[in-house]
Amino acid sequence: MKWFNDNVNVLALIGAAVIIIMTVFVAGKYIRQMKTDKSTGELTGDYWDGIGEYNNPVPTGWGLIFVGTIVWFMWYMFMGYPVWSFSQLGQWNEEQQTYNAMFKKKWANADKETLKNMGEGVFINNCAPCHGVLGNGSNGKAQDFRHRFAENQVLDIINRGSAALGDKKVGDGKGQLGYALGEMPAGMASGDSAKAIAKYVANGLQGKAPAGFAACAGCHGADGKGNGGTAPNIKEYDMTLVMNVLHYGKKGVIGAMPSFNTGRLSDIKKKAVATYVDSIGR
Ligand code: HEC
Ligand code: HEC
Repeated sequence: MKWFNDNVNVLALIGAAVIIIMTVFVAGKYIRQMKTDKSTGELTGDYWDGIGEYNNPVPTGWGLIFVGTIVWFMWYMFMGYPVWSFSQLGQWNEEQQTYNAMFKKKWANADKETLKNMGEGVFINNCAPCHGVLGNGSNGKAQDFRHRFAENQVLDIINRGSAALGDKKVGDGKGQLGYALGEMPAGMASGDSAKAIAKYVANGLQGKAPAGFAACAGCHGADGKGNGGTAPNIKEYDMTLVMNVLHYGKKGVIGAMPSFNTGRLSDIKKKAVATYVDSIGR
């Protein structure tokens, strides 16, 4: 906003200018008068170090400026910019909201390529410290996005179930990731069958499914894509999975991923980073 679009600003400036101009004229008048004036009138009878004071009224000009300044100040403080209504924090929040709304509107229908590019920026700032700039998990510190799972991750959840991984209360009482099916029970497979399944899942469900996978398909779907969103997609990263992980955080055999449910990432940025994560390794 420009200063001249704001009426209060304009009035305040005009008021200040009037006071300054009056001061210049009045001061000029009295300075000129001082050169020729003779001291006349009644003395008050008060003396300071021998200097006496005349009992003259306050000069009209000075009086007007004095009152004018007080009126201007009162108006400015209480009516122009009322002291109790302005808040810097409020202004900041309003601007923030305006920009967020603009951001949302601008990118509401962003295509995949745009989301991916935006997601890369979000990723570098928020995810790369743990997941590595390349998304390779920084030597086992966090999830390696070049594939969906490593064998030991799948084996671990088959053996221990998901309740052992994290706080089951976290996903709004539904497992730790908030899917409708809740938690995954332990011991759906064991021994060599479990190993074969882990290998198959870690390979992105390529080739022929081992016989034991039928037990998993009941919940995760034969294609592993999560049965219409009731269980996690274990074949690839998808929007729901990344959104849920960002919302609830995740604990697993690798470690703990913090929840990003702090308002730091808008939904569009989450969507963007999900698109980017899904694109790594493809
Ligand atoms: C009863 C339904 C059910 C069955 C059967 C099941 N799962 Fe799950 N699975 C789930 C649910 C629900 C979750 C999410 C758990 C959570 O949010 O805590 C999950 C989570 C997982 C995860 C972790 C997903 C992630 O993003 O971290 C893997 C891997 C997995 N299951 C693999 C398997 C395999 C392999 C089998 C077969 C041996 C199997 N599941 C059988 C319901 C099931
Ligand atoms: C403080 C470190 C840290 C940060 C920051 C972090 N993560 Fe993670 N993330 C992890 C760890 C550790 C895991 C592995 C958890 C496990 O053992 O399964 C993980 C796992 C994941 C998974 C896999 C979840 C699954 O169920 O398969 C996704 C997706 C993910 N992170 C996305 C992100 C995104 C997107 C960001 C940035 C917005 C991010 N993470 C920031 C540590 C982090």
